[in-house]
Amino acid sequence: MKISKVVFPVGGLGKRFFPITRVIPKEMLGIIDKPLIHYAFEEAVAAGIEEFIFVTRHGKDSIEDYFDYMFAHSEYFDIKMGSVCYVRQNEPMGLGHAVLCAKNLIRDESFAVMSADDFIIHSESCIGEMIKHYTGANMVASMNVALCEVGKYGILDVDHETDRLVIAKSVDEKPSIESAKSTHAIVGRYLLSHEIFDVLAGLKPGVGGEIQLTDALMRMIPTHGLAGFKFNGLRFDCGSKDGLLSAILHFASQDEDLKQIVENFYGSRK
Ligand code: G1P
Repeated sequence: MKISKVVFPVGGLGKRFFPITRVIPKEMLGIIDKPLIHYAFEEAVAAGIEEFIFVTRHGKDSIEDYFDYMFAHSEYFDIKMGSVCYVRQNEPMGLGHAVLCAKNLIRDESFAVMSADDFIIHSESCIGEMIKHYTGANMVASMNVALCEVGKYGILDVDHETDRLVIAKSVDEKPSIESAKSTHAIVGRYLLSHEIFDVLAGLKPGVGGEIQLTDALMRMIPTHGLAGFKFNGLRFDCGSKDGLLSAILHFASQDEDLKQIVENFYGSRK
């Protein structure tokens, strides 16, 4: 199934990186010389997506400036840009609310949602691999996490598994260790039916007082199903300091020049 639009929810406060994210969007934090949002954008482009919708807010103007710069220097960035637009999320009411803000720009087609702070290194494109397996049921990227981490994620309750899919019979947002039904966590890549907008519009605030995308996915299971996609690739939670640092070190370890700098740094401290 063709997916031509992606929503990037970039309105989050980035509290785990205060004070820097008081003035720099967390999506603009760098993996060496490119911001996180650049990598998510490249992943979407590699998947054949052509329309990029940023759900942004006050204080995030540098994201718009960055993509203006990319547009003006397309020879430098070497990616086909498609069309980029911005819609504001004027209250920090959560991921589900952010997606709902994009409703009028999506209208009646299935679409992707990508969180830039889930940085995924993949030989092609994680969202592209999902699109190849997408048949119309709501789909999320999924990976196994440690039991002590379930409270950071949406967690799938498994009905059955196939080679690449975890078919869910329910899903809980940030459950306690005691109540978690599995350790299959949602990672920030989604392929969604446009019918989710009506569901989101009718939701009351859930965990954390926010409108949760997970709650909408749960309500749609009887009509649209829910599949967790076991993606290939390495994922870093760049919404946390250890995840961002690990991503930078991993990236450096893959680059001949940077690798040498890291080795020299540790060598000089032995
Ligand atoms: C969001 C979702 C959660 C998902 C996670 C993936 O949580 O609500 O279901 O597992 O992204 O990164 P957040 O990290 O915004 O708190």
